[in-house]
Amino acid sequence: MLKGKHIILGITGSIAAYKSAVLCRLLVSAGAEVKVVMTPLAKQFITPLTMATLSKNPILVDFFNPENGEWNSHVSLGEWADCYLIAPATANTIAKMASGVADNLLLTTYLSARCKVAIAPAMDLDMYAHVATQRNLAQLKADGVYVIEPGAGELASGLVGKGRMAEPQDIVSEVEALFDEKKKSLQGKSFLVTAGATIEPIDPVRFISNHSSGKMGYALAESLAARGAKVWLVSGRTALDVPAGVERVDVLSAEQMCEACCELWPKCDGAVMCAAVADYTPAVVAEQKIKKGDGDMSIALKRTRDIAATLGKEKGSRLLVGFAMETENEMTNAVSKLQRKNMDFIVLNSLRQAGAGFRGDTNVVSLIDAESRVDLPLMSKREVADKIVDKMESILEEKN
Ligand code: CTP
Repeated sequence: MLKGKHIILGITGSIAAYKSAVLCRLLVSAGAEVKVVMTPLAKQFITPLTMATLSKNPILVDFFNPENGEWNSHVSLGEWADCYLIAPATANTIAKMASGVADNLLLTTYLSARCKVAIAPAMDLDMYAHVATQRNLAQLKADGVYVIEPGAGELASGLVGKGRMAEPQDIVSEVEALFDEKKKSLQGKSFLVTAGATIEPIDPVRFISNHSSGKMGYALAESLAARGAKVWLVSGRTALDVPAGVERVDVLSAEQMCEACCELWPKCDGAVMCAAVADYTPAVVAEQKIKKGDGDMSIALKRTRDIAATLGKEKGSRLLVGFAMETENEMTNAVSKLQRKNMDFIVLNSLRQAGAGFRGDTNVVSLIDAESRVDLPLMSKREVADKIVDKMESILEEKN
């Protein structure tokens, strides 16, 4: 998608500038030609030598080279670019862009740019939440600037909240999506994705769970969002960051996940049930920590609600996709789940295949519907997600 594309990477003075090195590397690996423009302060956070080496082009900071008077033309830079990506974008730069201030090369280039412009804000949570910053971001969106939402999490200040620059890989996906009109094909549609492992408490310190990393579900949420869909990611326990453009709803138990899904389902055009949901939960949760005795012990378990089947009963014209993780009689079990839960198709995950299943970054799956079975080769989880979303799109087109 980015092969041969001309990208200006603008870097401003934020600690997140260290991530710009990885971002630049990813853009170059994806085939883009990258020229880097830095504000004077950005040079304090990451060296021009690093960025020049990674981008394979000299860094531009000043309007002219003081050694020989050579002019860095922001006008021709603006004309050269297919995309101007400012990452990280500080509150200061965002404010100046919103009001048309042109006191450095990065800003004059913005005013001259005729191409798509995207910014990845990075700042402390209070600066990000401030009405002035939000007003400036709203102004930039109205001016046609694409804002790559910051993530929530631990910030350099030690505070926890929203303001952390999106991860380089997510920024690249968003830039790719800007060039790919097909990827905006789900604009106006809403989806629910479940992901990760549920936690079923036994007592205040112990629980029953499973090995799901959540990676497949997160990749699906990312793929749907990259095509312009509204995505609610109902997530059990994972160590993953929220993908750009996705709204995460955190839950712990199967019952909490079921409640969150039932509430969102009427607002959705479809759902992908990727979570590894506990089928059983302790019948009673002990209020105090259970003390050991000399003998063995057993825990009484009761069935949880089947979330996919619950949504399947109220499906109407919506799209429902499920997963089946099997170790034997794969096809028979998968088809039975497809029918029992009223799904449009099911993604069969065989734990017998190398490179498939939990924790890893790859998967080997088959897509099975009432009429057909397609076996996909070993792919990254993100590539598998794109294939699943392709199939969802074609079913949605048939339904409409
Ligand atoms: N699922 C769900 N709610 C549950 C259990 C499963 O929504 N309580 C969903 C999973 O997210 C997946 C599909 O149902 O999309 C199949 O899950 P799986 O555990 O493989 O199948 P089960 O129906 O639970 O059958 P079994 O455990 O007997 O294999």
